[in-house]
Amino acid sequence: MAAADPDPAADSDRGPDPAADPAPDAVTAALADLYRRLRTLDEGEVAAYIPELARADRAGFGLALVSMDGHRYEAGEASEPFTLQSVSKPFVYALALAELGLDEVSRWVGAEPSGEAFNAISLEEGTGRPSNAMVNAGAIAATALLPGATPAERFERVLARLSAFAGRRLDVDEAVYASEAATGDRNRALAYLMRGAGSLACDPLAVTDLYFRQCAVRATAADLAVMAATLGNGGVNPVTGERVVDEPVAVQVLSVMATCGMYDASGEWLLRVGLPAKSGVSGGLIAVSPARFGVACWSPPLDATGNPVRGAAALRELSERFGLHLMRRPARGAPTLLAAGQDAVVAAQGALDFTAAERVLFALARRAAGPAGPLLLDLSRVTAIDPVAEAMLRSALGRLSAAGHRVTVTGAPGRPVRDG
Ligand code: DON
Repeated sequence: MAAADPDPAADSDRGPDPAADPAPDAVTAALADLYRRLRTLDEGEVAAYIPELARADRAGFGLALVSMDGHRYEAGEASEPFTLQSVSKPFVYALALAELGLDEVSRWVGAEPSGEAFNAISLEEGTGRPSNAMVNAGAIAATALLPGATPAERFERVLARLSAFAGRRLDVDEAVYASEAATGDRNRALAYLMRGAGSLACDPLAVTDLYFRQCAVRATAADLAVMAATLGNGGVNPVTGERVVDEPVAVQVLSVMATCGMYDASGEWLLRVGLPAKSGVSGGLIAVSPARFGVACWSPPLDATGNPVRGAAALRELSERFGLHLMRRPARGAPTLLAAGQDAVVAAQGALDFTAAERVLFALARRAAGPAGPLLLDLSRVTAIDPVAEAMLRSALGRLSAAGHRVTVTGAPGRPVRDG
């Protein structure tokens, strides 16, 4: 349990055991504390509508967290395998988005919270389109969009990409797959309804079979934390360094997780926890704090909305304890502007994004308000300029030179921002 540098193969990346460490770091201590207190929260019911899931140990409870640097923290049964079930949905949606792009995928599946249960039989009037890819109908529609010449090839692709998210080869729990395949008539009915409404362009039986398989992919809380962290890291697995999906896709998936990931409890979840999340009926739950970490819990008993009781409680506490609500103001970084000491010099430092560039532009405009003359923009201490900041600087320099100022830029990193 606890932190270490990323090395997927090494046992040592799991760091010291908090039970053996009298002074664990704050993250390890928080997970260990949540595990110790919440393991006795014995509420909710283990899902039984897929008979094989009813065999789960209701006392099992694991927590894992992975930072954007690939540091890994764990508590409890974080290495216990279970099936992804609905936690597969955001990742398969990501694969469909990566293949076809948002506009094409949106023709087949929407992005509106349904306000209904995960297995609701409700499709958009007129189009027959499911409301979003986090409910069963929408997930089946997303699965239907994945390419592949044969069912085996399509599934192998899904498994390979889910494995890339996790940073290790995952497998399928054949007993759970067979159990859902034997009892999954409601999902088949949903697929036939969509087919009848014109919103499913493939065979309902084939696509539901693929969907049952993706739901039966087996992973641990430790794996799921890496998968979640990959979404929070703009699509790059922070442990292996592999780019799994492009950043816009990761952003699109997190957006739908934020509004739809917890089914009819999604609004309340965003209000109280404030993190994009996704739950599954086998007790898995992931949440993402973008640019900070991915976190995963496993605990089979579910509440009335189908969300895991212990996992939801753990994430509520974690979000509050570490101030992680998405709508909170981010901490202010180092100051962008260095005191230049001269009216004709604007000196910046650090990484320039929209916020930092706005500060630079404001300072330039102040200096430029005086009589036209030479102006030095010193970027020698700037470590990176993102494309948005670069465009802002370029247009500011253009406006300054049009107004008769002679601006010289020094020390821009990467592609130089040219003298306006
Ligand atoms: O389609 C089903 O019913 C399951 N394979 C997955 C449902 C699920 O995990 C809903 N999550 N809370």
